[in-house]
Amino acid sequence: MNTRNRALRLHEYGQQDGLRVDEVAPPELAPTQVLVEVKAAGVNPLDQKLAAGWLRQGFPLTLPATLGLELAGVVTAVGSATSGRLAVGDRVMGLAGIGAYADLVAVSEAGLAVTPAALSDVQAAALPVAALTAWQLLRAAGEPRSGSTVLVHGASGGVGGFAVQLAKALGAKVLATTSTESVDYVRGLGADTVFDRRAQRFEDEARDVDLVLDLVGGDTVERSWAVLAPDGAIATVATMDIAKKTPAGKRGVWLSMKGDPELLARLAADVASGALRSAIAEVVPLSGLAQAILGAGARRAPGKVVVDMTLGQ
Ligand SMILES: NC(=O)c1ccc[n+]([C@@H]2O[C@H](COP(=O)([O-])OP(=O)(O)OC[C@H]3O[C@@H](n4cnc5c(N)ncnc54)[C@H](OP(=O)(O)O)[C@@H]3O)[C@@H](O)[C@H]2O)c1
Repeated sequence: MNTRNRALRLHEYGQQDGLRVDEVAPPELAPTQVLVEVKAAGVNPLDQKLAAGWLRQGFPLTLPATLGLELAGVVTAVGSATSGRLAVGDRVMGLAGIGAYADLVAVSEAGLAVTPAALSDVQAAALPVAALTAWQLLRAAGEPRSGSTVLVHGASGGVGGFAVQLAKALGAKVLATTSTESVDYVRGLGADTVFDRRAQRFEDEARDVDLVLDLVGGDTVERSWAVLAPDGAIATVATMDIAKKTPAGKRGVWLSMKGDPELLARLAADVASGALRSAIAEVVPLSGLAQAILGAGARRAPGKVVVDMTLGQ
């Protein structure tokens, strides 16, 4: 077992060199936790927002703080009050709360699912946040009906890629927005109509949309009210103040994704069987992670960025 513990820690908000790899002590294991030797971890836009200090009011961190929301790896110890569901040697994937960017992480057993044998650790680390969020967001404004029209903004991203496929699997007609380079990718996921957000205005063509999934925020939300069907809704994970921004007579719903190991296991099985596609935009070593986080938002391939902790070790 690896006893070295490198961690990507935030030392200072809003600084280019505020994120640094440190050698830290191994974590202590609480009774309900398992110790995971992390093989890979998924990168999320929240990392950049935390590092910039934009969320320090609502989500204060004690600095230095290890970032990272999701991981995949191997169980190396189990706490005394765990259920027995997970054992030493199991390959696991899931949510770490915060602190996934380290070689050794103590994680609540309740956040973890067993990784399907057919998935690599890099593939597994790309799933928890994106797949769970897409599934929950589709249902955040009520159970979607077969035959309804769903518009996904930010369809080439981690959450958006799953949202398009899951909406399609529910029998929805799927409209999507993305940038020019990703139009073919999003069409390949099953979207019926894809708007190139650099060349087209979705509101000129989209009509009677039952559900808008907002993964982008900003004026994309403001422009979306006009395309809703009379009883339609916008469900968002990108516009935290949607309640304030919702015009009279319209419906806007905020979602905070919640851990759900059974659902994660089902979604991971669908990825393993090929029923769901999961795209990896880039795999970086730990030495390149800070740059990948700070550069988020720059144009890149569709899908998730993942740090492979085994690279360059
Ligand atoms: N509340 C929660 O529980 C929760 C959970 C997960 C994620 N989130 C949030 O959900 C959002 C999406 O997450 P993600 O992991 O899918 O991010 P992501 O992988 O970075 O994808 C976001 C996508 O949005 C598109 N985009 C960027 N700027 C845009 C703009 N100005 N107009 C239209 N599209 C734009 C980009 O694709 P194109 O350039 O191809 O358009 C990008 O692929 C983030 O804000 C994240 O923080 C919240």
